[in-house]
Amino acid sequence: MATKTSIHGAWSSRWAFILAATGSAVGLGNIWKFPYITGENGGGAFVIVYLFCIAIIGVPIMMAEIMLGRRGRQSPINTMHTLAIESGHHPGWKFIGILGVLAGFLILSYYSVIAGWSLAYIFRAGAGAFTGQTPTGIEAIFDSLLGNPEALLGWHTLFMAMTVIVIARGVKHGLERAVKFLMPALLILMLILVGYAINTNSFGKGVSFLFNLNFSDLGWGAILTAIGHAFFTLSLGMGAIMIYGAYLPKDASIAKTTFTIAAADTMIALLACLIVFPLVFENGLKVGEGPGLVFVTLPLAFGKMDGGVFFGTLFFILLTFAAWTSAISLLEPVVTWLVENKGLKRVTASLIAGGVTWLVGVLTVFSFQKDSPIIFSFKFAGEQKSNGVFDILDILTANIMLPVGGVLIAVFAGWIMSREASRDELEIGDGHTYNLWRVLVRFISPALIVIVILKLTGLLDPIIYLFTPIVDMFRS
Ligand code: PFF
Repeated sequence: MATKTSIHGAWSSRWAFILAATGSAVGLGNIWKFPYITGENGGGAFVIVYLFCIAIIGVPIMMAEIMLGRRGRQSPINTMHTLAIESGHHPGWKFIGILGVLAGFLILSYYSVIAGWSLAYIFRAGAGAFTGQTPTGIEAIFDSLLGNPEALLGWHTLFMAMTVIVIARGVKHGLERAVKFLMPALLILMLILVGYAINTNSFGKGVSFLFNLNFSDLGWGAILTAIGHAFFTLSLGMGAIMIYGAYLPKDASIAKTTFTIAAADTMIALLACLIVFPLVFENGLKVGEGPGLVFVTLPLAFGKMDGGVFFGTLFFILLTFAAWTSAISLLEPVVTWLVENKGLKRVTASLIAGGVTWLVGVLTVFSFQKDSPIIFSFKFAGEQKSNGVFDILDILTANIMLPVGGVLIAVFAGWIMSREASRDELEIGDGHTYNLWRVLVRFISPALIVIVILKLTGLLDPIIYLFTPIVDMFRS
């Protein structure tokens, strides 16, 4: 089993995997989503909880997911099936793979629409549309894009087509080559933008918003959002990293690889905030603006700075590429499953999976149309949501399906798979590091996630109530 290779291909080296997995991890989640959810949830305290989740939940589960992928070397559904049988358990564990593939498919449906905004902004920036604009002018540009369903649909279609083309060509061609240049370029451009933010009068205000420690306003909903985002940003809980792990050479160290990816991902997310929040304060915008935050703050900066047309265009090109390398990893698990189980050619499988995802994405397009019947408001965990189907998909996938998938992956790696098998695959010896990892995936990560989910579904309080007499008994 350990020397198996995947029928879908293999990375040429450990570094190729790191780049591809970082490409999957770094995307709209870091640059678009993280700043706006940080803004909506009050800043620093949320960021601390998020960083804690990355370290205590994200890193061990990422190690588990890569390990399962490399040991199974198939699509996530078949990998879980094979590994369950290998360890003498019921093949029904493949349910984890099914849940993951479904989550990936739903995420990609809206992810592609948002990536379409970024595509559109390449041209807005290139045409100098932001130059000299006031905050109101920039907001009007954003609103006019959102209010134009034909345009949104067109960009969504283009982005899905780009994703399908790379997937149809296979993991090695296309993907490896693209990520090698684009990730470093994105980092350099972001550092330049941080330099710009430092020179505004509001840098200090932005930084103190990002690192304030005001835990009093942090609700359970925010904590679940932080957990969910740790999964979303590291591409965990749905098989994307598992399928990439399936192409990882046997001799690569999973622990070192994971640290590198998680560190790069976290750095990009924090840099995005260091750019966005000073600009929010500088221009009198609202931190809780929601999904439009990055698409309003950054164009304002590009409109004012020297060379803004150049930097703005380049930025949205790189953001689109970051989204592209993530979208690819969202589609790969479905496509490999169609190839393995339905006997389809890779090209046909990519077209079918891409086509169905595109269709579901149309719902998100309409979620941003003011008069559309599918737009509605609702409250989730005390927060007001007003983008109908888009918000439902986002909450269902990021806040529920990914954490649940993550718990199941942790339980599988920690309880179902034998100690020998996981130790052999992780190759971190039998010492403290291995034991720490095992304690985290067996107890800590699942417990933390389950507690938060129980709290939000209202089930935690009755459970505590039930256990109080027992606890009291021990006390007396
Ligand atoms: N990690 C990506 C981002 O932060 O944009 C999104 C993502 C990709 C989520 C792949 C889940 C996934 F499987």
